[in-house]
Amino acid sequence: MEVIIAKDRTELAEIAAGIIRAQILAKPNCVLGLATGSTPEETYARLVRYHKEEGLSFAKVTTFNLDEYIGLPPSHEQSYYYFMHDRLFNHVDINEENVHVPMGMAPDPDAFCKWYEEQIEKAGGIDLQLLGIGGDGHIAFNEPGSSLASRTRVKTLTEQTIKDNAELFFGKGKEDEVPKFAITMGVGTILEARRLLLIAFGKRKAKIVKQLIEGPVTSMVTASALQLHPDAIVVIDEEAAAELELKDYYKWVYKQKNAEYQKTLDRLAGR
Ligand code: GLP
Repeated sequence: MEVIIAKDRTELAEIAAGIIRAQILAKPNCVLGLATGSTPEETYARLVRYHKEEGLSFAKVTTFNLDEYIGLPPSHEQSYYYFMHDRLFNHVDINEENVHVPMGMAPDPDAFCKWYEEQIEKAGGIDLQLLGIGGDGHIAFNEPGSSLASRTRVKTLTEQTIKDNAELFFGKGKEDEVPKFAITMGVGTILEARRLLLIAFGKRKAKIVKQLIEGPVTSMVTASALQLHPDAIVVIDEEAAAELELKDYYKWVYKQKNAEYQKTLDRLAGR
């Protein structure tokens, strides 16, 4: 696992958007796995900027979102479908036919989940999967206790997640408006992506980030499954990194890697 500690959330978004941009430039018809939440908002804003200012094109990109609340129509402002269009898709040249967000209103959610898995496979699998982390360590909506081999399915949200998401999306004290169920990619589905990129910032994530990076691999913190992936990058800010035992080492590794990279650039430029 590569751990990158950014000085603040602005630098974090710059690094994350840079990794996504590099993926699109290297493979214009790549398949991106995308996440919702407050964490990736600034990253998406930067991608929109790269599109508008540098012509970064999403025309051949295919996307699959991690999850969606059951019972919310795409037009609902708190749906993840709405969020993705509002923050990213409506502002870039993506082909709507290539956009996939689980359907919260699917008449047969189980059949839909199977179909969603088939679509990911048909697209050739996910090249780069962006992830956030919930307060209880979940990735997508894989709540504690989710099998590390799980596939796309319906999950019941924990009371903690309902509370967190009420505050973030529906307004404080509006727990009753948060759906209790969601369709989510499984941990096993996520681990099949060729590359994982998890981002997190702020004090409130410090404890769970420590468990994700330095704790045991356990279904009680589904994000810890990233330790099983051969190409996982975690980008966090100083506040979220506060409890890491090997914090200085991660910084040292990143510094060495950048110095090496700079040397290669200098060599190529004949300096
Ligand atoms: C929801 C989403 C997760 C996301 C999490 C964290 O639960 N299903 O994919 O990572 O929120 O949200 P935030 O980034 O706002 O902290």
